[in-house]
Amino acid sequence: MGLERFSLDGRVALVTGASRGIGEAIALEMAEAGASVVALARSEGDLEATVERIDAGGGVAIACTADVTDGPAIAAAFDRAEEAFDSVDVLVNNAGTNPYFGDAKNLDIETWEHIISVNATGAFRCAREFARRVDERDGEGAIVNVASVGGVVGLPYQAPYTASKHAIVGLTRTLAVEWAPDIRVNALAPGYVKTEFTEGVRDNEAIHEELLDEIPQDRFADPEEIAGTAVYLAGDAASYATGEVHVVDGGYAAH
Ligand SMILES: NC(=O)c1ccc[n+]([C@@H]2O[C@H](COP(=O)([O-])OP(=O)(O)OC[C@H]3O[C@@H](n4cnc5c(N)ncnc54)[C@H](OP(=O)(O)O)[C@@H]3O)[C@@H](O)[C@H]2O)c1
Repeated sequence: MGLERFSLDGRVALVTGASRGIGEAIALEMAEAGASVVALARSEGDLEATVERIDAGGGVAIACTADVTDGPAIAAAFDRAEEAFDSVDVLVNNAGTNPYFGDAKNLDIETWEHIISVNATGAFRCAREFARRVDERDGEGAIVNVASVGGVVGLPYQAPYTASKHAIVGLTRTLAVEWAPDIRVNALAPGYVKTEFTEGVRDNEAIHEELLDEIPQDRFADPEEIAGTAVYLAGDAASYATGEVHVVDGGYAAH
């Protein structure tokens, strides 16, 4: 057994939320590891830019514009992926949103439902579509669900986000048991990462400093520092790993 077990040569990986941030980094690194990539998100222009970066690095990718809350659009994206590459072997459920930061007592139900529907239901919808197709071809596959440290500990003032990420962790464990041995299902739980997602907290000096005090490595991660774990979980190097939650957080949840 050698380092080729970390290769994704010959695999097809569909990555949701690949138009920027962590999803884009995962798409780029999976392509570098040899996978053909289906980059999915809502913003057509940004997705095309991801595909161009993969092309420029010598990789292969297509863009699929879709919203993870839209069932027919997700089914159509998988159809498009199969037309281009025959089958999808790896699903990375990375698309996510967190438009609420505040006391849960003031949270309205519409905002709660929106966050749950993108982060939790969206991931389930894509996982179900993926698994049905793996079954149809009597194949095998791997799912990497991007959760968060907010899926393993509570984060004050982020009730719907942490609820959605704990849902992803529960879903990961359940599907791992239910769909073994054909589909491995693991979660990746990043800590704080420098993306558009955390721009608000990074711009607020007081909150930023408070968070840095909680992170033993004393900094936010670059998206590339998260992507390597997704590549590992998707490939044969992780062939006996399923139902696991891999925290990559600079030590945040360790104390
Ligand atoms: N940044 C962090 O510190 C951090 C920490 C822990 C976990 N995470 C998780 O990591 C994942 C990626 O976060 P990020 O930091 O890279 O955020 P980001 O820069 O805001 O990127 C979010 C991605 O999700 C896509 N997306 C959002 N809503 C979507 C929808 N309804 N349908 C399809 N795509 C959608 C966005 O693309 P479009 O807008 O083009 O659709 C974008 O590509 C999220 O699940 C987040 O919860 C982030």
